Order: sequence, then C-alpha cells, then structure tokens
Amino acid sequence: MVKRIVSGVQPSGKLTIGNYLGAIKSFVKLQDEYEGAEFFFFVADLHAITVTQDRLKLRQSIREVAAMYIACGLDPDKVNIFIQSEVPAHNQLGYIMESTAYIGEMERMTQYKDKRQRQVEGIKTSLLTYPALMAADILLYDANLVPIGDDQDQHLELTRMVGERFNNQYGNTFEIPKAYYNKDVVRIMSLADPLKKMSKSDEIERSFILLDDEPNRIKNKIGSAVTDSDTKIYFDKENKPGISNLLSIYAGFSDKSVEEIEKLYENKSYQEFKSDLGNLIVDYLKPIQERYKEILNSKYLDEVLDRGRDRAIIISNRKLEKVYHKVGLGRKK
Ligand code: AMP
Ligand code: TRP
Repeated sequence: MVKRIVSGVQPSGKLTIGNYLGAIKSFVKLQDEYEGAEFFFFVADLHAITVTQDRLKLRQSIREVAAMYIACGLDPDKVNIFIQSEVPAHNQLGYIMESTAYIGEMERMTQYKDKRQRQVEGIKTSLLTYPALMAADILLYDANLVPIGDDQDQHLELTRMVGERFNNQYGNTFEIPKAYYNKDVVRIMSLADPLKKMSKSDEIERSFILLDDEPNRIKNKIGSAVTDSDTKIYFDKENKPGISNLLSIYAGFSDKSVEEIEKLYENKSYQEFKSDLGNLIVDYLKPIQERYKEILNSKYLDEVLDRGRDRAIIISNRKLEKVYHKVGLGRKK
C-alpha cells in the first residue's frame, strides 16, 4: 500500500511550465488519487545553493515555489508543504547518506557531469554530494512513491541503492522508494532549442514559459518557438523536435492525446496551431495566476509552511533517532 509520497522542487528561479507538467501536475493528481496516503512536498532550498545564489532572490523564490504549489492545486489540508532547510533532519541524514554512498557513485551522475562541464566558476562540493541529500529527503519519510521528471531517475536509483545498502548493513531501516512518472507527460523542451530541456535557469528568456508570465508574453513566446520549415503538424521527435515539443505541451494543458491534436490540426498552419496553443496556456494558467497573487504575501502561506514544517520535523526526527542508534552514534539510551 502506498503510505507516503514525497517530492521537492528547487527554488533556483521562477517555475516554468516544464516544472508544472513534469512535476507539480503529478503531485496534484497523486494527492487526489491516494486518499489514505500522507504527502510531503517541500521546497528544496538546500539543493539550490549547490550553485551560487543571490540571497534575496533565493528567499523570494522559496516563497514563490511554495505559493505556486498551492496555486496549482495542492491542498494544504491534505498535504504537508514545507521548506527543506527548516527541517534539520534533512542535513543530518544527508551526512549519514554521504557516509553510505561511494564517491564513484556520485561522480557518475549525469546531472553532476553536465553541470560541472558548463560551470566556469569553482564547483562546490555540494554539487557532487547532492544526491546523498536527495536520498535523505526521501528515505527520512519512508516514502513509497516519489513523483519526479525523468531527469531525476538516476538520483532516485541512487537513493534506492544507498537505502538498500544501509538496510543490509544495519538491518531494515528504510522503505525503498519507487519513482512515479506521469505517463502522459514527457520532458518539456526549450522553445528556443528543442533539443535542450526547458529550464528556468536558461539565459534565453524566450526559451521558457514561466507559470506567472503575462498572457501576452506567453503568446509571444509560443509564437516565436523554433520549429522546422515543413508545414505539417505531426509528432516526430527526431525530425520535428520543435513541433513535437509544442504537441506535448498542448497535450499537457488539454485533456487531449497527441494523436487527437494531430487530427485536429491536420490541415491547419503552424501559425494557427501556435495561436491556439498560446490561448490554451493563457486560459489554463489564469486561475492559477490569480490564486498565486492572492497567497504569495499572505499570512496564510506562512501558516501552511509552519504546519508542514512541524509535521515534517516530528516524522523525520523519529527516523533520524533510529538511524543514529543503528549506526552507533552518541550514547546508548
Ligand atoms: P528542478 O527545476 O530541476 O528543481 O525540477 C523540479 C521538478 O520539475 C523535477 O521533478 C523535474 O524533473 C521537473 N522538471 C523540470 N524541468 C522540466 C522539464 N523541462 N520538463 C519536464 N519536467 C521538468
Ligand atoms: N533534485 C530534484 C530536482 O532537481 C529536487 C529534489 C530534491 C527532489 N530532493 C528531492 C525531488 C526529493 C524528489 C524527491 O528536481
């Protein structure tokens, strides 16, 4: 039985429609599907400082991600929403996980290798050890299911591996989690370069759509999305990555399948397709944006985060105490 569901999003900038379609939309779906389960959705602020952040911007982004969770439909009466750094057991178990995982395992992570290659300034130690903290985030709560985008599956595999290693060494301690992928949604690609993932940290503004982008901005960004010089609208990732990406986005924001959308636009132009897609996204995001504005600076948001933190502290400290005991740290109680 699924008892606990855990996931997080980094506050490394404003959220994009990639974050929504790839992660938050699944969180909301799970919240409604698994009524008996307990949920922990957090803002992974400790993960964000694996690269240099401006402190004021970081603080703002943390609040924004939390507000966006709620605006997108997470119900604080059903799920615990909290900020990772406010629950100290994450760091504490993170260190134990660093003492369980091997350096070679960390160095093999593609996300680390990619980021390392692109980075010019000094690479922080935490960029390498990041998956140990992520393992802790998950194992602390005995999560059975972890909704993630496919870019995170290597990290989840590592979580399973270190969880099992710990269990073998010290006796059964952690539930071994499974990834939950939203089958309807694939990875959303950059609008400027459909071979790259859409990312909130991309330097090219028109490559991503933010969940709080103004309607005209959204329409313009879709309008200027890179496509091919063909005229037909159909899904072919290899030869038509731009159009295929827009079809995925369309499917994500409607209840239609890609095949249905292809049919709908069989004899229509790219321009018409893009214009409809722009309107679709704008209409879909309108109530989310309204709710977001209402709660961003509200006391309500703080109350939700306090409540989530308090519950997360209780559950995670219980687990941490067990772990310390098993490892042989401190004094015998
Ligand atoms: P991040 O922005 O890296 O903290 O990602 C938060 C969550 O959103 C993760 O589960 C990612 O897999 C998901 N995500 C981020 N960008 C995309 C994208 N372009 N397409 C699909 N999922 C994404
Ligand atoms: N590493 C994830 C990302 O970059 C965010 C994250 C941190 C996470 N801890 C987690 C996701 C635990 C799921 C479970 O997207």
